[in-house]
Parts: sequence; structure tokens; C-alpha cells
Amino acid sequence: MTHSRLCSTILAAMLLGGSVACDSADTLDDEDTTQDDSTLRGAAARHGLAMGVAVGTGLQRTDSRFAEVLGREFNILVAENTMKPAAIQPAQGVFSWDEADQLVAFAESRDMKVRGHTLLWHESLPSWMNSPTWSREQLLAILENHIKTLVGRYKGRVAAWDVVNEAVEWNGTLRETLWLNGIGPEYLEWVFRWAHEADPDALLFYNDYGAEGLGQKSDGVYNLLRDLLDAGVPVHGVGMQMHVAAASPPRMSDFKTNMARLANLGLQIHITEMDVRIPIPATDAGLVQQAVVYRDVLDACLAEDGCTGLLTWGLTDRHSWVPSSFEGYGSALLFDAEYQPKLAYQVMLDGLREAD
Ligand code: XIL
Repeated sequence: MTHSRLCSTILAAMLLGGSVACDSADTLDDEDTTQDDSTLRGAAARHGLAMGVAVGTGLQRTDSRFAEVLGREFNILVAENTMKPAAIQPAQGVFSWDEADQLVAFAESRDMKVRGHTLLWHESLPSWMNSPTWSREQLLAILENHIKTLVGRYKGRVAAWDVVNEAVEWNGTLRETLWLNGIGPEYLEWVFRWAHEADPDALLFYNDYGAEGLGQKSDGVYNLLRDLLDAGVPVHGVGMQMHVAAASPPRMSDFKTNMARLANLGLQIHITEMDVRIPIPATDAGLVQQAVVYRDVLDACLAEDGCTGLLTWGLTDRHSWVPSSFEGYGSALLFDAEYQPKLAYQVMLDGLREAD
């Protein structure tokens, strides 16, 4: 019986009333002062694994339950939207820092680290930036200023940046974007170098979806990162978004093989945006299937030394991009809309406690 089958059998039994008994370069693994293994952050700290979530605008300030669960359970956070180009530089040369400043200060007050997301993307571009009329030189100047201003502001306070988001197509080629079309493929080299100049201690990541397992896209990401490293570009990690459906997760053996080859390049791996969507309204069977996927991904990460961070894309089902982005799906996170831990939370916690 595979681990997953074993787990789902036990979980199914548990739902019927039993108990759950399922089975680094410079990293983010500074000792967490909260080494209490009744929480995710405490149980993960023993493995040198950062556990985190994405935080929507203002939630940590406006919702005391949110802030309480976030600070108790997690030791790293990422802004869901607040640090994206459209939010941070809404008009040319005009930077809007308030939300990002408050999120970083919140993290520091709870002894949490911060992932920065994202310096460059083809989405979330402010309209002034997203113009075909810019010359190559102008685009380079815009990017350099954006990156150095943002990374420089949080120098020493943002542990890791998603420098480039989603630059590779399903077939493994570079995505046609403002940046590729206006600058050429060398834009990738420039942005990592500028980020590194602005904060030499920050870990710099390439982040993408659908490249967790094996296939044309993950080959494309692998080749891109290998080439950047060969050219001496400061890239330190790869983010695997892991937005998946419970019924069709990546094959775990492929995911492990892919992580291993990336780690062999000397890269860290962060699972950066995990959510596991199920049809809604959620059923017990859906929640069990979801819990197994969360647990499988955690176990694979714990088994790979290079995997040093695991973040979900939101804290609770109350605030999640899933229902509005995937029709008919939801309930994708570890806590329900009432801030109660779900089965997936419990099996994750068990997994962290039980692993060597
Ligand atoms: C999403 C946010 O969750 C939404 O609130 C927003 O409207 C669009 O962006 N990949 C990413 C994230 O890298 O930045 C995206 O976040 C989800 C997909």
C-alpha cells in the first residue's frame, strides 16, 4: 500500500470518529524562537523549514482572529498583492509603501520572515508601465529603478524575493511579454543582478506554476535556471507555486525528481503558493483527498534537503483567490472560513511532528 493510500484509509477512518495516526546554502532556517510543536511554525522549525501564508491587503490589521492565527502558526509571510508592481508603483516614480511597510512591520513584530512577491510579472502591471511605446532603454531604466527602489527599501528585512514570476510557457519557451518583446531574453539576467545589487543578502527566486512535476514546462524552467547559473547570474532558488486540484496533483515521484535536479544545481526550493482546491460545497471525501495532497507535498519537501519553505496562498477559506478563479472550486486552504483548522492542517502538523 502506498503512503497516500495508507493515509487516506486512516483519514477516512478518522472522519468516522477514529484518531489521526498517519504517517541548505544560506537558508531561512534561523532558529524559530517558537519551538512549540503544537503549531506548524514550531513543528517545522525542527526541520529548518519555513512555514507561511500569503496575506491579503490589510487583513493583519483589520481582523484580530486573522492576526492571531497567522502569528501563532506561521513564521514567514508574503504579500498576496501589496508588493506587486501595480500596487507599489501606481504612477511612474510614485511609490505606495504604506501597506507593504505595515505588513513587514507586522512580520517583524511576530518574529516572522518575509518573502517579497514579485518584482517582475506580465500581470499586475500599472497601466503607465504596460505600454508598447517604451524603447528598450526606457524599459531597462524602468525595471532597474523599480527593482532597486523596492528591494533597497526592504534591504535586510525581506529574506527572499520572487524576482521573476511566470516567465516560461507550457512548452518550455520564454513567455512573450512586455519584457521579452521590448528588451529580449537578457532581461532575465539584468533583473536578478539588480536585485542582488540592491540587497546582496536576499535570496533570489524564479517562481512559476505548473512546473512542479516533470514535462516540457519544468524542463524549460530547469534549463533557464541552469543557463542563468552558468552565466554567473545570482539566482538562489526556485518557487513552485503548487496551485493544484485535489483530484489531479502532480505525480509525487516526478515532483521529487524535479526538486532533486534543481537542488543539484545548488538551488533552494520553496513551495510558494500552495492551495488544493476541491469542488464546493466541500464534502468529507473532498477534504480527505485534499489532506492527502497537502501531506504528500509536505513529505516530499521534508525528504528533500533543498526544500526550505512551504507557503499556502492565503490563511483561511474566508480569503482565497480560488473561488473567483476556478469556477465551482474552493475550500482550498488549511483553515476554514471560521479560522478552524481543517483535516489538512492536522495531517500537516502530524507530518511535521513525525518526520525525522
Ligand atoms: C493572485 C491574487 O491571489 C489575486 O488576489 C489577484 O487578483 C491576482 O493574483 N500566481 C501568482 C500570484 O504568482 O501572484 C497570483 O495571485 C496567483 C497566481
